[in-house]
Amino acid sequence: MKRVLVAGATGYLGSYILKELQRRGLWVRTLVRDTDKLRLSNSVDVVEGLMTDPPSIERCCRNIDVVISTVGITRQRDGLTYMDVDYQANMNLLQEAKKNGVQKIIYISVLHGQSLQHLKICEAKERFVGELERSGMDFCVIRPNGFFSDMSAYTEMAGKGRVYLLGKGEHRVNPIHGADLATLCVDAIELDAREIDIGGPQTLSHNEIAKLAFQAVKKEATITYIPEWLRKVLLWSLRSFTTTKFHGPVEFFLTVMAMDMLAPEYGERTLQAFFEDAGEI
Ligand SMILES: NC(=O)c1ccc[n+]([C@@H]2O[C@H](COP(=O)([O-])OP(=O)(O)OC[C@H]3O[C@@H](n4cnc5c(N)ncnc54)[C@H](OP(=O)(O)O)[C@@H]3O)[C@@H](O)[C@H]2O)c1
Repeated sequence: MKRVLVAGATGYLGSYILKELQRRGLWVRTLVRDTDKLRLSNSVDVVEGLMTDPPSIERCCRNIDVVISTVGITRQRDGLTYMDVDYQANMNLLQEAKKNGVQKIIYISVLHGQSLQHLKICEAKERFVGELERSGMDFCVIRPNGFFSDMSAYTEMAGKGRVYLLGKGEHRVNPIHGADLATLCVDAIELDAREIDIGGPQTLSHNEIAKLAFQAVKKEATITYIPEWLRKVLLWSLRSFTTTKFHGPVEFFLTVMAMDMLAPEYGERTLQAFFEDAGEI
């Protein structure tokens, strides 16, 4: 039986991966920086360590066959950059994995990460992908579309009565539920593919997503469209007058919401059901 280390199990996707591994009866260890944040249904081996501090993660890969890392900055406010975490922390884990004879690493980047390397988040993630390619290890890079967890921004805006969209709201995206993505991440243990683009089962325009969000919160749809010139001014101002730590996440969203983000469709969970479930909580 394969022994799997999950780094990032305290996060949205990592927690679904942990559940999926346990559902399939695989032996699992998690590497976390705060054990209290781990939501566990069954007993699991836990190593506490800081991926940004190599000595603290020594031995996390001992007797491990496969490492899955979802570690990256999303909403964390630790004063670290994408280069510190998405690149360097994952490099520290890669070095431990190599030292301990791990067979394969599965890493989560971002859809179109290769062509979006002018964005700080993609630059860091794809630099790590380059290191994986040169590492001589077996690996699989998964490049997912936006997660349903991030789509909650629509229901939050709709709940306040107004959704803001870029351009005419006509760009399309197929976001994915963490549980569907976790299935693919765990399948990747046995797959030969080295790179996988993946999105959810439904492709929707941002206008359609906004309408679903208003339906879920039972409010009349009011959408404000941010014109292209204003998006460009915002991007320029953020890059010129704020630090990378601040503008990194914003430049990502201002960029991907202004383009089609389409990946091969996968999974079965719909955004409508996700919004409606969230509305009931
Ligand atoms: N959200 C999206 O729409 C989307 C789309 C495509 C790709 N991705 C990528 O997919 C990955 C997982 O996303 P997610 O939504 O599951 O993110 P998440 O919920 O924020 O989970 C990220 C994980 O990384 C860990 N982490 C972050 N900074 C760390 C640090 N300095 N030291 C140690 N651990 C750290 C977090 O630990 P703590 O719990 O201790 O903070 C958490 O376990 C990320 O790399 C993200 O960029 C996300």
